[in-house]
Order: sequence, then structure tokens, then C-alpha cells
Amino acid sequence: MTEPFKLVKASVAKSFGHAAMRYDDVAVLQRQTGDELLERLSLVTLSPQRILDLGTGTGRNLMQLAARYPEAELLAIDIAPEMLQQAKQTFRTAMGFKRWLPNQRRPMLLAGDAESLPLADNSVDLVFANLALQWCDLLASFTEIERVLRPDGLLMFTTLGPDTLLELREAWASVDDYPHVNVFYDMHDVGEAMMNARLAEPVLDMDRYVLTYDSAMALMKDLKVLGARNVNQGRRRGLTGRQALKLVADYYEQFRDDGVLPASYEVIFGHAWAGTLNPQTRAQDGSVSIPISAIKGLSE
Ligand SMILES: C[S@@+](CC[C@H](N)C(=O)[O-])C[C@H]1O[C@@H](n2cnc3c(N)ncnc32)[C@H](O)[C@@H]1O
Repeated sequence: MTEPFKLVKASVAKSFGHAAMRYDDVAVLQRQTGDELLERLSLVTLSPQRILDLGTGTGRNLMQLAARYPEAELLAIDIAPEMLQQAKQTFRTAMGFKRWLPNQRRPMLLAGDAESLPLADNSVDLVFANLALQWCDLLASFTEIERVLRPDGLLMFTTLGPDTLLELREAWASVDDYPHVNVFYDMHDVGEAMMNARLAEPVLDMDRYVLTYDSAMALMKDLKVLGARNVNQGRRRGLTGRQALKLVADYYEQFRDDGVLPASYEVIFGHAWAGTLNPQTRAQDGSVSIPISAIKGLSE
């Protein structure tokens, strides 16, 4: 596995906590990938009794899941309590007075870490995680997800791949040698972590999304509002003053196309089932070979 970025949990929780109020104003990519993930979920026949929206953020997908599976009990977990407050508000607004009707199900909102889920073994039928796992240690999170999934349970997720924000990364690299943009796992790492966590029949593919901005400053401002700050442990700040930002913005101009600046995102879509691996897949030394057929889109 390539060296993943080391996360400072408190810093992630704090960033997203600060972001909670204004997150929905700028979460354009998150809405697009969330919709796509829901679309993919509609292709699976499933009658989940209990659903977990992991890294729920402001709870937008939680409401979609509630509408799709009205009989299901809904759980939402996020590391930032302020996000859960917003999710509660999203639920209130979406339900209006209906939330007072008898037998109306309310989502259970839990502050917690994907790497150490506050849930019992075999207790959830569907784990939905849109753009949250890129903030987590993947093996620890997948292991926890596998633990809490019931035997026929399904995990559906998106995460970010290494080409995410490549233009911004290049622009910063022209200014100094410090990491200013998070490092993300590639699809092989994601697949390996899924197999090592003993998730069954993992399937992965990748899609590129391009958001456009008027200026590099507008992009960096949006990232800040989203709470998507650089959390590389031990990072030294390097140059971050006005002069450095101007150099980044100037460099970024070379990417301008049709009057706008692109910000590329590599989005990895994945799903897998609970269950242990076929013993033939795992070698005696504990290593795991991933069948190429299990990873779609590698040559894209
Ligand atoms: C980019 S937001 C996505 C939110 C939501 N899923 C959506 O689609 O809009 C990432 C969310 O993951 C949460 N998060 C980050 N690390 C986490 C962890 N270790 N455990 C649980 N939640 C985490 C953040 O607080 C944030 O709300």
C-alpha cells in the first residue's frame, strides 16, 4: 500500500465542525457523487432493516435513504458533532410537521469514528458512505464496517483518488516543497484494504469530475468552507501568506480553459458485501490477491 496521509483526528473533526453551517452551500461534488451512489443503489434489490449513513455530514443522503426505505431504521454517524446538529436540522426541515406523526421514524445521530464504530457486531444491513472514507484509515474503517454488517449486508461508498485536485497540487508544488493538498489512496490500495478487511466480492470503478471556478482563490475558499483542509500530519506550513497564494493563483492560470479554471476530482466508487473471503483468495502468508475482474475501470 502506498504511504497514506496520516490523519489528525481532532483536526478533521474541528475542520468539519467549523464547516457545518455553510457546508451545503458549496458541497457541489458531494451532491453529485451522492446522487450517483444512490442511483447505483437503486440497481440493487435490498430491504434493509437498519441503515448506517457513515460520515453523514449535513444529512442530505440520510433523507434520501429515509425516503427510499421508509420502513428502515436509520443511523447516522459523523466525527463532527456540529455536522450531526445540521443533520438534525435537515431532518426537521425535510419532514416538517410530519415528524410529529405517530410511528414516524427519526434517524439516530451518533458522534463517532468510522475506524471504531459505536455499533454492535452484525447489526446493520446497509452502510452508505459518500466522500467520507478519504478522511479515514481505510483498513481500520473497512474492518469495522465488515464487523457491523449483517451476513447479507452491503457497503456502498465513494472516496477520492490521487488525481484529486491535481491542478492545485501542481500549482503549490511550483511554490514550495510542502504538502498543501491531501494525499489520497489509489484504487489498488482501496481494493487491497477491502480484501484485507474480508469484505466479499468487492467492486471498484472510477470517474472523473471537473468543477469550474473563476479563480484559484475561489477554489481554495470553497475548500476551506467545505472543511476539506489539508490534514497531513507533521506538515510544515511552508509559504501560505498572500505572496504564496498569489504565486499559486498565477500558476493555476495556465489551466484556464473556455474562460474558467478546472478543479479535477478522481472519485472512486465501491461496493462489497459482508462476509469472509473464499479461502483460496487468501494465501497462507496472509497476503491477498485481488482478481482483476473485481476492479473495474483500471485502464480508464
Ligand atoms: C465531505 S463530507 C461528506 C458528508 C456527506 N456524506 C455528504 O455526502 O455530503 C465528509 C464527512 O465525513 C466526516 N468524517 C471525517 N472523518 C470521519 C471519521 N473518521 N468518522 C466519521 N465521520 C468522519 C466529516 O466530519 C464530514 O462530515
